[in-house]
Amino acid sequence: MNILVIGSGGREHAIIMKLSESKRVKKLYCTPGNGGISRYAECFDVRATDIEGVVSLAKQLSADMVVVAPDDPLVLGMADALNEEGIMAFGPGKKAAEIEGSKVFSKNLMKKYSIPTANYEVFDNAGKACAFLRKNNTYPIVVKADGLALGKGVIIARNEDEAVKAVHSIMEDKIFGESGSKLVIEEFLTGPEVSVLTFTDGKTVVPMVSSTDHKRALDNDEGLNTGGMGTIAPSPFYTAEIAEECMETIFIPTINAMKAEGRKFKGCLFFGLMLTPSGPKVIEYNCRFGDPETQVVLPLLDTDLADIFEAVCNEKLSDIDIKWKNEFCSCVVMASGGYPQNYNTGVEISGLDDKGQAEEAIIYHAGTKYSGGKCYTSGGRVLGVASTGDTLKNSLEKSYGAVKKIKFKDAHYRTDIGKKALEKYN
Ligand code: AMP
Ligand code: GLY
Repeated sequence: MNILVIGSGGREHAIIMKLSESKRVKKLYCTPGNGGISRYAECFDVRATDIEGVVSLAKQLSADMVVVAPDDPLVLGMADALNEEGIMAFGPGKKAAEIEGSKVFSKNLMKKYSIPTANYEVFDNAGKACAFLRKNNTYPIVVKADGLALGKGVIIARNEDEAVKAVHSIMEDKIFGESGSKLVIEEFLTGPEVSVLTFTDGKTVVPMVSSTDHKRALDNDEGLNTGGMGTIAPSPFYTAEIAEECMETIFIPTINAMKAEGRKFKGCLFFGLMLTPSGPKVIEYNCRFGDPETQVVLPLLDTDLADIFEAVCNEKLSDIDIKWKNEFCSCVVMASGGYPQNYNTGVEISGLDDKGQAEEAIIYHAGTKYSGGKCYTSGGRVLGVASTGDTLKNSLEKSYGAVKKIKFKDAHYRTDIGKKALEKYN
């Protein structure tokens, strides 16, 4: 198979490196890709949201399959456009992608089908939202823009003042653009947070190993929210018993709900879960692989990824036996100093070999480019340094060992990835 992957981050690099192990794969392409990805796949300069451009590139390359990895092209309907041209696309169609594209849609779906989630109210008017907040006396409370907001559309308000400000900035100042024309105000949930990515063909759902993201920029979960500063898999909090409960109360009901709504979901459905004292609840759905969750989940996969993608597209997922390595994986993100706010790019990176890799770890490039044979930073998150190990401790030692040998000016990384998980495992 010739496979074209859409996207340009660490997640796409992880998908491509896993596909490069497949016996089924002849040639790998990526658009737009990045420096590190270009060492494993031929890259093009068609933007990830350019539907016509991607369809025509896929035709020109005679791609047998296109993997649409990011949320925005999926929400725009890229998978439908490819399928209409007879090109196999891994990723949900527009109607199914709305499960991530609209928080109002996903909350209403959960309510209608009794899928456990935080209690909530929907507003399309700032005055009504503020009147609701004045009556509410339970804080913190969570204010969410309806649409896609680059993963930043969630504000946790500690008191009425902050909540009212959040409503005004989302609905009137439009800090998240049109994503904020509606909003959800919901109950604040507590408990360990776990990410569960699943493969689904709309009929069968197969969970991958669980993982945990570390979203804040600084150690001890301080600092600003980021796209994710590191991940570990599996999560020690996600026991076999909880996994079984999630399958029965969340995963299967969600797949069936989407089918019943005429929005059959085919692709990777990501469940962001809170393991609350009253049971697991859904915080959010993503219509795609998580970033940086993918970077710790796929290294543990022991089944050909191209076979799985094909089975999902052909609605034959139940025919495949998906196996996982009995190991642990960790990924430490190296970011540009200042991320997620202002940072420099074009900074030279040392410590990587010709393939952009290093000993002991897999290096997933998130924001790099090559020029004159040298590797430079080109984004906020630069590299994801990942290792597998027999224990989580061993995996983290390898990841951090490799991080210390990679250098670029003002590089920033968290030193406590996996700390809470390690304490739980011990
Ligand atoms: P999201 O952009 O939906 O991934 O939300 C970002 C983060 O906000 C999540 O990873 C949670 O840590 C937090 N969050 C979202 N909703 C809630 C909630 N109802 N209660 C507590 N934390 C939440
Ligand atoms: N790591 C969470 C996400 O991909 O949205």
